[in-house]
Amino acid sequence: MIAIYPGSFDPITLGHLDIIERGCRLFERVVVAVLRNPNKTPLFSVQQRLEQIRISTSHLANVEIDSFDGLTVKYAQMRQAQVLLRGLRAISDFEAELQMAHTNKTLAAHVETVFLATSNEHSFLSSSVVKEIAKFGGSVDHLVPQHVALDIYRCHTKTP
Ligand code: PNS
Repeated sequence: MIAIYPGSFDPITLGHLDIIERGCRLFERVVVAVLRNPNKTPLFSVQQRLEQIRISTSHLANVEIDSFDGLTVKYAQMRQAQVLLRGLRAISDFEAELQMAHTNKTLAAHVETVFLATSNEHSFLSSSVVKEIAKFGGSVDHLVPQHVALDIYRCHTKTP
């Protein structure tokens, strides 16, 4: 079974990586799919994010990295994937994630959303939190893969 793990990944965090690793144990193939979103001004370009994810997941045999635009379910159907994989951190995620899952179900009845509860140590973690900490000069070494932390410090011209 193929699972699509869609998201912005600006940048990938250890929380995302945890979901990818666990997804890889559950599904034959996990496609990490970066949304090309013209409505957002990201810290990293899609190319940079794809490269960050590629390096972060190089230890996993059944992962693929791609980008897409438009509807996630259309992309999932194009890839003949049966599952959309999402991580759930806290109650605060639940409403938006449930709405997204229901909406996607109305668009493609055969594509199932599977939620994995994030591990406890990542339950507070998001790309936005990482960017906020780095912006004010804090260390993000414990929140993202090491090479991603270096990319972030380079953006903020701060050495670790
Ligand atoms: O990492 P994010 O920003 O939480 O990911 C959100 C994402 C990319 C999964 C979501 O915004 C999405 O699927 N966007 C594509 C457009 C779409 O399919 N919308 C319908 C679902 S409501």
